[in-house]
Amino acid sequence: MANIVVVGTQWGDEGKGKVVDLLTAGVEFVVRFQGGNNAGHTLEVDDRQFIFHIIPSGILYEDKKCLIGNGLVVDPGVLLEEMEGLEKSGITVGPDRLSLSEKAHMIMPYHKALDLAREAAKGKDKIGTTGRGIGPCYEDKVTRTGVRAIDLTEPDVLEAKIRTNLKEKNFLLEKFLGVSPLEAQPILDHYLAMGQTLAPFITDVSVELDQAVKAGKAILFEGAQGTHLDIDHGTYPFVTSSNPVAGAACAGSGIGPKQIHHVVGIVKAYTTRVGAGPFMTELEDETGNFIQEKGKEFGATTGRRRRCGWLDLVVVGDSVRLNGLDSMAITKLDVLSGLETLKICVAYEIDGQMVHQRPASLGKTALCKPVYKEMPGWKEDITAARKKSDLPAAALDYLSVIEEITGIPASIISVGPGRNDTIVVKTPGS
Ligand code: IMP
Repeated sequence: MANIVVVGTQWGDEGKGKVVDLLTAGVEFVVRFQGGNNAGHTLEVDDRQFIFHIIPSGILYEDKKCLIGNGLVVDPGVLLEEMEGLEKSGITVGPDRLSLSEKAHMIMPYHKALDLAREAAKGKDKIGTTGRGIGPCYEDKVTRTGVRAIDLTEPDVLEAKIRTNLKEKNFLLEKFLGVSPLEAQPILDHYLAMGQTLAPFITDVSVELDQAVKAGKAILFEGAQGTHLDIDHGTYPFVTSSNPVAGAACAGSGIGPKQIHHVVGIVKAYTTRVGAGPFMTELEDETGNFIQEKGKEFGATTGRRRRCGWLDLVVVGDSVRLNGLDSMAITKLDVLSGLETLKICVAYEIDGQMVHQRPASLGKTALCKPVYKEMPGWKEDITAARKKSDLPAAALDYLSVIEEITGIPASIISVGPGRNDTIVVKTPGS
């Protein structure tokens, strides 16, 4: 079985959770490689709803091992809460089921305080972060002052880091941002206690993956957020602080690129975005409201109403290139049922010139006028479709346009929230 990477091709919330859940059936290991608890996957299984922020949803399968890679920033309190929540639902989470990379960085209370205070200070220019401390934690990783999972098991190291870091963070919090400083001792005590509980789960994930590869086991790499939130390739500065692109699966888990066999890009049948930043095909009208309500487009992490718009194939096309996509999983096609006319953005026009890639400049991006291909919609409820031929002709045309313009086949089409509401055209990597 192939090792597969699943990534979002838009601004996150494409429905990766459901596709990951589906593909998990065919692998032994599921790994997350970037982001933190800014992500949120909602899964509906047997009429029960599960929301995951850190732990790969593969934990719902008894025989899968879930790994949290070094590329993540982990809030240990949130991780422990998620583990407890699963235990309460009858899902056992022992070290045989879950590993946390010793090199993953820990989100500290000062990261959250800085994230929130900075956003508040930005006023109307705010990015709209999830306020989980993601950016400040990655900052410390890069300035080489971060706290890693392994440090939770070494009290002297942890204490020195917390005390040294707090000198600078408290200066910023108090003197620059005008909020209360934090005390070292309660943080130290809390993180040491959490470290004791987490210690059996803290391992070298790269070595575990190497052993899995050598034993011929299949691995699924689960991306969070989406390509256009990528710190390098996204709509900077309106982005997250990690690399959600497929290439990061290797660096963020400790595996070589030759071990990846297939990259699946998740494409929501329309576009959504939470937080601020460019959104070329945004619909601030009744159609946008229709999609928002029918698609239940509220953030799984923050509960914020998602901005909605038409499918943007310039955005998806950039993602085909940036991730080297082999196939697409098209999600939430059922949400479009009932719309008279559908529009797909196939290019942008800037001052009369046709553009097929999103410009890096925010100024130029603001000038991009979407060029739409209009198509008739369909009225039928398509949630019961289990093969392509069950879909109405207009839905098949809509899918054909996506495949033609991106040049990538759709391996999976999701027509409803349930595990079974899915058309598998070709199992990715088979
Ligand atoms: P941060 O990741 O909390 O720093 O937020 C930076 C930007 O990324 C904000 O616009 C967030 O709304 C967005 N973002 C972060 N995580 C997700 C996600 O999982 N889905 C969608 N947007 C996200």
